[in-house]
Amino acid sequence: MLAGKRILLIIGGGVAAFKSLTLIRELRARGASVVPVITQAGQEFVTPLSASALAAEKVYTDLFSLTDEAEMGHIELSRDADLVVIAPATADLLGKMANGLANDLASTILMATDKRVLVAPAMNVRMWEHPATQRNVAVLKGDGVLFAGPTEGAMACGEYGPGRMVEPDEIADDIAAALMDGPLRGKHILVTSGPTHEPIDPVRYIANRSSGAQGTAIARALSGLGARVSFVTGPADVDPPAGVKVIKVQTAREMLEAVEAALPADGAVFAAAVADWHVASESTSKIKKDGSGSLPVLEFAENPDILATVSQLTVGRPKLVVGFAAETDDVEAHATAKRKRKGCDWILANDVSPATGIMGGTENAVTLITDAGAEVWPRMGKDEVARKLAARIAEALT
Ligand code: C5P
Repeated sequence: MLAGKRILLIIGGGVAAFKSLTLIRELRARGASVVPVITQAGQEFVTPLSASALAAEKVYTDLFSLTDEAEMGHIELSRDADLVVIAPATADLLGKMANGLANDLASTILMATDKRVLVAPAMNVRMWEHPATQRNVAVLKGDGVLFAGPTEGAMACGEYGPGRMVEPDEIADDIAAALMDGPLRGKHILVTSGPTHEPIDPVRYIANRSSGAQGTAIARALSGLGARVSFVTGPADVDPPAGVKVIKVQTAREMLEAVEAALPADGAVFAAAVADWHVASESTSKIKKDGSGSLPVLEFAENPDILATVSQLTVGRPKLVVGFAAETDDVEAHATAKRKRKGCDWILANDVSPATGIMGGTENAVTLITDAGAEVWPRMGKDEVARKLAARIAEALT
């Protein structure tokens, strides 16, 4: 998702600086190149050598370096990136930036850049809550600076509260979202995908033929429009898209838990083929064929209906909830009734009778059912269905 993107990463002086090394790896794993700049204070926490080794790039530390200026001046450095990121962003760096001070390489780059800036603050809770910091944050937000965190948590200094730097994978998600221009920028959308596996015993399970292709395509299309996507997926055949937050689950009950943990969201798309039942008589040890000819009898219990649960939330319900209806006959009528019964806003109905080849295939033929009635879409690739749905979601949420 970040393929070909160039990130200028300013590492400030804070204990959280060690996480910036992980951030470099995470960004490179997503296809970005990272040029590190480490402040003087930052070098007390991480060495230029480790940052350079992980980034496989030259690391810049000094404003008045004759060699660096001869190779790439600080002005050029500030422009030669798609996004400037500060992680950790200390109170000092935020203060300098908010007030236009430029007395070292990092602050000079921040003044000279013509690119967007994303900051991941990290500092002691009192420093974060200090009116001076909060004033600076307000000024910076007004200037269009993007903020990733901070979050609440235990700190190295022994205190607890807001001021903790968000984890590198979340910063990377925010970077991905910031680099994707689109109508869904700033929106959080939850997508469920894939089948669920319901265990019979430690080695056997009950599943269905869902490949996860449609849900994956939807998550990719939404993040392509700038949404921050939480992707809750069962064991699918296809890899999850890059640039989304992936939460892997096995069972329907785990999927519900993951969905609840990912809320709040502006929108939610339930594309998973969730098993209706789990094995109530699940065995903790492998069921043996004992030679007596007696056959195991499985008892089932109903799974939670995730779509209905979220649709019927009275507090924190996403503004737009989209479900799927995989039917084999009377598709439109069944899907219309399902939309009412579950309480979702839209249903994408599709005919999964074997003759259509849709389940596990690359194409889909859907009917979108909304308040306004049914809209039949022509048969098209699952990617195209995803893009069309994402565009409709963007219209509805903006
Ligand atoms: O009831 P049915 O399985 O046909 O409903 C399909 C829709 O409900 C899909 O959007 C599916 O993701 C969702 N669903 C769910 N949890 C279940 C069963 C279905 O979220 N336990």
